[in-house]
Amino acid sequence: GTGKFFVGGNWKCNGTTESIKKLVGELNDGKFEESVEVVVAPPFLYIGQVIGSLTDRIAVSAQNSWVGKGGAFTGEISADQLVDAGVKWVIQGHSERRHVIGESNETIGKKSAYALSKGLGVIACVGEKLEERESNRTTDVVFEQLQAYADAISDWSNVVIAYEPVWAIGTGKVASPEQAQEVHAAIRSWLGDKISPDLASATRIIYGGSVNGANCAELAKKEDIDGFLVGGASLKGPEFVTICNAVI
Ligand code: G3H
Repeated sequence: GTGKFFVGGNWKCNGTTESIKKLVGELNDGKFEESVEVVVAPPFLYIGQVIGSLTDRIAVSAQNSWVGKGGAFTGEISADQLVDAGVKWVIQGHSERRHVIGESNETIGKKSAYALSKGLGVIACVGEKLEERESNRTTDVVFEQLQAYADAISDWSNVVIAYEPVWAIGTGKVASPEQAQEVHAAIRSWLGDKISPDLASATRIIYGGSVNGANCAELAKKEDIDGFLVGGASLKGPEFVTICNAVI
């Protein structure tokens, strides 16, 4: 990819007022390479706290958003509200939303399109389960997920694609640099075939799944790995800074 290296920290459903205060302090003390774009995604409840205390060097993402405009949708948060609060990005289609909450490809496409229409950047997640990989269906599954985004999205300029094999998420079983590179390259050629060659080279394709301070450098060397989406290790400030600085 030709864009800036992109690293997102997905805090998932973790943290307290106190622990987030500490983490923000560590991030504020971090020295980041100029050529990395850094984003963190706190739980909704703490977004105001984070925006009010975090350095402007780091942008804030939400982990989800409602499918459309706000209204009588108990428990939901709209993209309009995220923009109002100063949020710049939203993660869509994370495997936990797909496989724990049960979101469909179609819903994820709609959520992404609405968020983009309000000016948010979208971190669009894709990834296969272990049994899908073992039955050689990795690219079938990933391309089907990509097609669902493509069916809903017309302008991809504000989209970062996150490849996150489900078997690597939170398991400590990171994909090898070769395994990740193979799928990243397949995603890039899919973008070239289905959308446009320009978009294929401009789109950041980031890897997620057990990335840590020790394995990030080898992954970052791969041609089609343009950054990371980090879960567990993003809760430790100094380690997250190390991962951000894995940019070549
Ligand atoms: O969004 C982040 C991914 O789900 C990766 O999580 O780094 O804890 O494996 P993990």
